Amino acid sequence: MSNRHIITTQVAIMGAGPAGLMLSHLLAQAGIDSTVIEIRSHKDIAETVRAGILEHGTVNLLVDSGVSDRVLRDGDRHDGIELRFNGESHRVDFKELVGESVWLYPQTDVFLDLAARRSADGGDVRYSVTNTTIHDLEGKPKVWFTDADGVEYEIQAEYLVGADGSRSHCRFEIPEADRKWHFHEYPFAWFGILAQAARSAEELIYANSDKGFALISQRTETVQRMYFQCDPKENVAEWDDDRIWAEFRRRVNGNGFELNEGPVIEKMVLPFRSFVHTPMRYGNLFLVGDAAHTVPPTGAKGLNLAIHDVRMLFEGLESYYRSGSSDLLGAYSARALDRVWKAQQFSYWMTTMLHTPEGANDFSRARQLGELNSVVSSRHGLAYLAEAYTGWPGIS
Ligand code: DHB
Repeated sequence: MSNRHIITTQVAIMGAGPAGLMLSHLLAQAGIDSTVIEIRSHKDIAETVRAGILEHGTVNLLVDSGVSDRVLRDGDRHDGIELRFNGESHRVDFKELVGESVWLYPQTDVFLDLAARRSADGGDVRYSVTNTTIHDLEGKPKVWFTDADGVEYEIQAEYLVGADGSRSHCRFEIPEADRKWHFHEYPFAWFGILAQAARSAEELIYANSDKGFALISQRTETVQRMYFQCDPKENVAEWDDDRIWAEFRRRVNGNGFELNEGPVIEKMVLPFRSFVHTPMRYGNLFLVGDAAHTVPPTGAKGLNLAIHDVRMLFEGLESYYRSGSSDLLGAYSARALDRVWKAQQFSYWMTTMLHTPEGANDFSRARQLGELNSVVSSRHGLAYLAEAYTGWPGIS
């Protein structure tokens, strides 16, 4: 006899990152019950440094569904970015080109807002769980887990959602014959830092140079986020502040522009790859966000795509529970993948256009500058970039 405590719910969600929590929140607002479990602690998730750019559609969903008005108060609206190459900056004016903007609002804050709202609404979200196992995906899914106090549970649900990130446990439950993995590896990574310094510019700078790529982003008035292209095997311990700043200077400074420098308070190497798992459904399991796909960070699409997946899945589940029709749920994978592949293309394009390839030669360097020039000298080129960066239409 098992002494597992039974939890009965409509939708079981693995993962309490932004995707899992946003889905649980939207479902709750539609009167659909869910239980969310997460192997990490709330503190661990809150302290992980992640990307910071939200598309207008992501911001609208956070605001309209009542998760956050903080994003509008504490976030910074950015109406453009700078592309910098050959020592010169070229503005991409999103507002003027496509009438849209993005918001700089760290993913960590999105998580904190969602976690606070779920908690205030009495949502069932359990952090720091262990021993998770998944059963009966073709029928009524069950998830076994042990909670932070060592109590054993069995969730019995109608649907299971894998929102459990790039190391997804759920993804590996899908038989090989029923899925396809699409991979692309890149020969570089990003060296990311947080530094105590004032902003160096009003907007983000995406810098291409023959010494490699650098991205100058921001966090607050006094803390900045920056990255430079590095070897995937780079060891952060070998980089002191002087060496880090010398690398940024080589790639970004010039023609009268100088970065503001200051103490480096965090440093890390971020892996880099493109990955898509298709289809994003197996039986009664649906994958959302990083569990189903990874994009390289250039262009900051990861969180935005996850939120788009959630929106598509929510529409399917809501329609099913309201009308009994599973048509929209059946279309989930195709509807989500449509945007996933657009974002894969955009992230790949931004990456290859801005980074220095391995074994770069005179031809590849001159061709890359030709590509960059063809974008910044054409309204159509700039608008293509602006539309993708701020988020393709189709959702408001
Ligand atoms: C940030 C990260 C990105 O990958 C990007 O394209 C822009 C900004 C960030 O962390 O701020």
